[in-house]
Amino acid sequence: MRVGILTGGGDCPGLNPAIRGAVLRGLDHGFEFVGLRLGWKGLVEGLTTELPLEKVEDIVRQGGTILSSSRTNPFNPKDPKVEECLATWIRLNLDALIAIGGDDTLTAAKRFHHEHGLNVVGVPKTMDNDLDHTDYTFGFDTAAGVALDAADRLLDTARSHHRILVLEVMGRYAGWVALHVGIGAGADWICIPEVPVNFEEMIATLKRKRDRGKHWGLVVVSEAVKVPVEELSAEQLGDRKPDAFGHVPLGGIVGEFMAKRIEAALGIETRAAVLGHVQRGGSPSLFDRFLGTRVGVMAADLVKEGRFGMMAALHGTEIVAVKLSDAVGTNKQVPPDMWPEVLSLINK
Ligand code: F6P
Repeated sequence: MRVGILTGGGDCPGLNPAIRGAVLRGLDHGFEFVGLRLGWKGLVEGLTTELPLEKVEDIVRQGGTILSSSRTNPFNPKDPKVEECLATWIRLNLDALIAIGGDDTLTAAKRFHHEHGLNVVGVPKTMDNDLDHTDYTFGFDTAAGVALDAADRLLDTARSHHRILVLEVMGRYAGWVALHVGIGAGADWICIPEVPVNFEEMIATLKRKRDRGKHWGLVVVSEAVKVPVEELSAEQLGDRKPDAFGHVPLGGIVGEFMAKRIEAALGIETRAAVLGHVQRGGSPSLFDRFLGTRVGVMAADLVKEGRFGMMAALHGTEIVAVKLSDAVGTNKQVPPDMWPEVLSLINK
């Protein structure tokens, strides 16, 4: 059986363990693997690489993806490339494909399976941890760990200089990274997209802390937090344009926006730090190595069993198969009913 593997969307630590897990298990099933480079672009253009044992056996500790990635969407209505993908599939003589990615990549995987009959299985990844029907995705633990380290460092210098530091973290639609890092670092305030920012409450809390002598602080802000757009200048927005999936990335703006608001209200020097892609790099944590490997192994088993249209997911401590059609299309958000618990930790 000839099995393709691709990694699509934003990279994250754990992709290489997942590729490795799939290949090591697949070799036991007698599969021959073809790596498709640069996500779906690899299937569009027939960009391939060999994936023998030697290429994967030592990659468990490696960040990024040895297959490279892209945000190419073959179903982009403005520039569809579905026919090209189907032609490549035939030319490469593929029997099945393991698609490793987040919601965008797996939506395309689902569509190839349901609309074009391709034998596709999915492996969920995203540092945002916002994919539904799986408890965690690999990439999240490492990214949140990197952001936590940054938060700790910022707090040291904030305390020394009596400043407030705003840390803007990634998470395109969901606040999981901000929530975990904010709680883990003991932040003074946390802004997540699931809960509209209550500026009055945030400022009142920070003032209360200032008035009892705490002239420094840390505010963790998710990049996806909604701020009054009319207050964002054209200069701040720059030339940001929707990507192939229609998303306008706002990362890099909200942290600065919050810092200005806080400084104006409190009279304490407030600076913003945008962590950006630093969160996506580096060696995967143990959790991400273990989870990535396990979902990769499961994907090879799903191919062997002919269970196409399925995705390997984490439920509790078990790796289970869920339907791609159930998993994609909605983002797993931080449940707003968690907010009172969060508030009781930050509003002192
Ligand atoms: O989806 C993962 C993610 O890292 C988001 O947190 C972030 O908004 C986005 O990717 C950034 O994408 P890019 O690297 O394409 O700018």
